[in-house]
Amino acid sequence: MNEKKIVFSGVQPTGNLHLGNYLGALKNFVSLQKEMKCIYCVVDLHAITTFQKPSELENNVLETVATFLATGINPSKSIIFNQSAVSGHAELAWILNCVSRIGWLNRMTQFKDKAGSDKEKASVGLYIYPNLMAADILLYKASHVPVGADQKQHLELSRDIAQKFNNDFNCKDFFPLPEPLIPKNVSRVMSLRDGTKKMSKSEESDYSRINLKDSAEEIDKKIKKAKSDSEPIPESLKSLEKKHEAFNLISIYSELSKKSISKVLNEMSGKEYSFLKSKLSELLISEIIPVGKEIKRLLADRSHLKQVLQKGAQKANIIAEENLKNIREKVGLI
Ligand code: TYM
Repeated sequence: MNEKKIVFSGVQPTGNLHLGNYLGALKNFVSLQKEMKCIYCVVDLHAITTFQKPSELENNVLETVATFLATGINPSKSIIFNQSAVSGHAELAWILNCVSRIGWLNRMTQFKDKAGSDKEKASVGLYIYPNLMAADILLYKASHVPVGADQKQHLELSRDIAQKFNNDFNCKDFFPLPEPLIPKNVSRVMSLRDGTKKMSKSEESDYSRINLKDSAEEIDKKIKKAKSDSEPIPESLKSLEKKHEAFNLISIYSELSKKSISKVLNEMSGKEYSFLKSKLSELLISEIIPVGKEIKRLLADRSHLKQVLQKGAQKANIIAEENLKNIREKVGLI
């Protein structure tokens, strides 16, 4: 275990965690536990940047913790907690709001996507959300951040903020510049209905995604209905890459079967997509169904899940307070 390397990552409790979250982030969270000190956060303060019904938010927080545990995150190895239980996140976010630049935030493509055409109506929180994300990471002086490719720009901003803080307050290397850990093969799982859009919780059609709590029948039906291509599976990666939906299905299959894309193409070129789909369904069912069952089992004991969060928050708070003391000092706050 390398004590100097600290992993931090967060997941929003907005319900419906899906295959994109699983392959893009959660699987990586689990394997990193073996090598480094890991801190995994249910980012409830991020979730409320768009309105959440209070009664649903609590359920979604508990469901996200249950998902962390069900995928294999071990609370005796890693710290699991919810963001609002450690007030240092909000405090450091304010300090970083004063370091980060409006011009930097104006470049964030996720704000543009989420705010839609009427930006005036978006919450201020949604706009400064990337500064809170930088605070999450820097509060623990995290060196590594496992995320899907959609978070790359936010991670670059976190690095810029860390660098500017170190320069402004004349404390070289005070904040490490956090490195993103983005999976190589499936850094962006795409929608099953439109291969140019990422798989997402907020997409209206449930057929666009595989949820971690889907039944075997639902998974099978969604894969059967998934868009693919009218021509048979091609031989070369170059031709596959032009077909977004087919490329997505083959990438997911390649990841789950642990075979390279070229090996999959070798085995399957010339065959119809129905052949790939039935193999993919089988693999998804064997990987996802046990996770879904475990989430449901864990959700039956809410007090256990709350206890995991409380214990995690206590541990996180100790690190956060220690770091905040130094941060306040650097800024000149007494
Ligand atoms: P969130 O909650 O949208 O997603 C959680 C994680 O899942 C990844 N992900 C995907 N990966 C591949 N393909 C997809 N279709 C897909 N959809 C989601 C995300 O990249 C993410 O890693 N802002 C973050 C949460 C956050 C955070 C942090 C992350 C807050 N503070 C500090 C890292 C460090 C978010 O909204 O993720």
